[in-house]
Amino acid sequence: MSDKIILTGDRPTGKLHIGHYVGSLRQRVVLQETGEFRKIFIMIADAQALTDNFADPGKVRQSITEVALDYLAVGLDPQKSTIFIQSQIPELTELTMYYMNLVSLARVERNPTVKSEIQQKNFGEGVPVGFVCYPISQASDITAFKATTVPVGEDQKPMLEQAREIVRKFNEIYEPVLVEPDILLADNEACLRLPGTDGKAKMSKSLGNCIYLSDSADTVREKVRSMYTDPTHIKVSDPGHVEGNTVFTYLDAFCRPEHFDRYLKEYQNLNELKAHYKKGGLGDVKIKRFLNEILQEELGPIRQRREEYAKDIPALYEMLKKGCETAEAVAAQTLSDVKRAMQIDYFA
Ligand code: TRP
Repeated sequence: MSDKIILTGDRPTGKLHIGHYVGSLRQRVVLQETGEFRKIFIMIADAQALTDNFADPGKVRQSITEVALDYLAVGLDPQKSTIFIQSQIPELTELTMYYMNLVSLARVERNPTVKSEIQQKNFGEGVPVGFVCYPISQASDITAFKATTVPVGEDQKPMLEQAREIVRKFNEIYEPVLVEPDILLADNEACLRLPGTDGKAKMSKSLGNCIYLSDSADTVREKVRSMYTDPTHIKVSDPGHVEGNTVFTYLDAFCRPEHFDRYLKEYQNLNELKAHYKKGGLGDVKIKRFLNEILQEELGPIRQRREEYAKDIPALYEMLKKGCETAEAVAAQTLSDVKRAMQIDYFA
């Protein structure tokens, strides 16, 4: 077996949606099933969620359940992947304290993801120090597990860059105990940035443009029915645009050749469907029906499994508790290596 280790995670600020699914969750399950990884850690990043939701702890707490259910529903398997909660691993906080010495203030302020998040969020009295430092804490998450591979969305690139810098600096100043991680992105353009159902760049709860993994079949159908397409495509006979057309972006992310066999026999593949739409004569109702069939097929089993797991919440928390124990043992070993390298292991 290889010595590759995965660490990844999500902030618990609500239920997970199909943007999370195609951007990362679906790929995690594939990676889990390859058996190529020595260890897989999936973290619910509640401490990070609190960096901008500190005044709303109830939301974060409630979302732990939702995210854990979403994980099991998509097929993450606690026998193969350790699922745990960030705040329950105090070693992560301790590492963050030491890593903070290795990063300049100018460097944290330059992080493009942090910058744009600061603009989006209305931090009334000012930006919390904890918020600008979350990339440093994320470096702790990754390095505590000696992760080689971090499958995440494209927006997380600056976090990985930051983590790699910290690893290099630590290993240079102290001893080479930390591992430089690589990012692993989804391989399909549409999956990297799945837009909202309204065509806006990102799915976000506040915009109300998400399709959730837990949405009912009726809700999914209704959301697809009202999706943004091409505003210049008014009559069926009009030529249409495929670029920037949300239905086609979703088809790029979800459609497989066998779907044509099952739901739209007149076409061989997505290229043929797109060509017809561009030429004119193909209506939005038809492409939306097709997309709905595909989404129902993919989301139906996820929703059913989710309902099953939701029947036994104590078992869900038992699973999380075990995951935390396993994760803490690994993080504690790394912290001990780090303290030795930093010469703060006085009683060893
Ligand atoms: N920043 C990630 C997000 O917003 C969550 C996260 C926290 C994470 N720590 C991580 C992802 C470590 C990968 C690795 O979704």
